[in-house]
Amino acid sequence: MKYHITTYGCQMNIHESEKIAGVLKSCGYDEESEEEEADIIVFNTCCIRENAENHAFGNIGALKKLKKSKPSLMIVLGGCMAQEAGKAEYLKRKFPFIDVVFGTHNLNELHSLIEQKRNSKKAVISLREEREAVEDGIVPVRKSYPNAWVNIMYGCNNFCSYCIVPYVRGREKSRSAEDILSEVRSLVREGYKEITLLGQNVNSYAGSGMRFPELLDQVASIGGNFRVSFMTSHPKDFSEELVAVMKKHKKICRRLHLPAQSGSDRILSLMNRRYTREKYLSEIALLKREIPDCEVTTDLIVGFPTETEEEFEETLSLVKEAGFASAFTFVYSPRTGTKAAVMDGQIPEEVSKKRIMRLVECVNDQTRQKSAECVGAETEILVEDFDGKKDCYLGRDLYGRMGYFKSDRDRVGEFVRLKITKANGISLYGEEIKE
Ligand code: 5AD
Ligand code: SF4
Repeated sequence: MKYHITTYGCQMNIHESEKIAGVLKSCGYDEESEEEEADIIVFNTCCIRENAENHAFGNIGALKKLKKSKPSLMIVLGGCMAQEAGKAEYLKRKFPFIDVVFGTHNLNELHSLIEQKRNSKKAVISLREEREAVEDGIVPVRKSYPNAWVNIMYGCNNFCSYCIVPYVRGREKSRSAEDILSEVRSLVREGYKEITLLGQNVNSYAGSGMRFPELLDQVASIGGNFRVSFMTSHPKDFSEELVAVMKKHKKICRRLHLPAQSGSDRILSLMNRRYTREKYLSEIALLKREIPDCEVTTDLIVGFPTETEEEFEETLSLVKEAGFASAFTFVYSPRTGTKAAVMDGQIPEEVSKKRIMRLVECVNDQTRQKSAECVGAETEILVEDFDGKKDCYLGRDLYGRMGYFKSDRDRVGEFVRLKITKANGISLYGEEIKE
């Protein structure tokens, strides 16, 4: 029996799909890269913005034919969309050929749900309000070598007014530091070269009486040739201790992902972000004072309800003032159940479209300029993959910059020093420096 998994959304979901694969593998299933050849197709969904949902709907709808021609095919839907209030029932109506729906808190039930469905004509739906145990005991099938994702916490308590995550992922729950450290130690022993600590808000980690900076310090103190990165940090919980730990360890990436969302204090307050533009900028100033070469990346939203042209321009000016190396930019998308979805002053689509185009251009200009400044410099990348189109190996350096180079043998998983010879957008091209 063979399974195929399609994943939407963030790193958390990508790692969760590795766990779904782990559950299926432990039950004797093998992975299949072609949907048509699989006996089970799993969709691990995302609902953070409407377009993420529409994308999944399109792909699920396209399976109707396949299911008709192959009735034994099992179609399973999991992840954040399944967990949305009332969504499972809606999905059952819209796609009556779905066999199993499971939520974000019951991954390890997946196999028994599939078995239940084999003995029943009706769709099997299983959703839970909250995660019961923090440890799921699942051994993931890791697909991201040389990087390994490690969850340190689940859920979010912040309730930013636009965001559906706290509703579909539940309240914050931290794993114990002992479990995290032992997972990292074994990954390093297995040869993983980058450990990425994952959580919706890693800075509010509170496992084993430990705060995040201490956990990060302990992870980075583990011996071996590997890097450590982490995401995502919330500016309201940013601390001097975190900067001190980053500075102490050369293993920790020189890149902090710190979502700003907006450059306007009025919008930040409506978003319930609990910091001001000034506080945000003072955090970056502290970071750059202590670690001058550290890069900052961010997430930005345009078209939040009532956002004026002037307030949008404050987001544009923040890009320059904060000196972001790059940014993920989003058009605000109303999510049912969130506070912002029922606010007055929703922004027309054509206005948001104009704003996002201006923002993307501003971010890209800055990224391009930063890349161009790298030409002539040296850097060290961790090789992640081979790009057949470019006929190059590629990887990222400690600053998160993507570097490409040519080699006549497989280099994935190696640290390679490059002399940067050319920049194209966010990509850097280089020649290997052979010692
Ligand atoms: N609309 C647009 N962007 C959103 N994000 C979260 N919720 C929404 C929404 N409703 C963005 C935020 C967050 C990133 C993961 O997704 O910028 O940091
Ligand atoms: Fe959503 Fe805010 Fe939590 Fe991030 S911190 S997951 S944006 S509620």
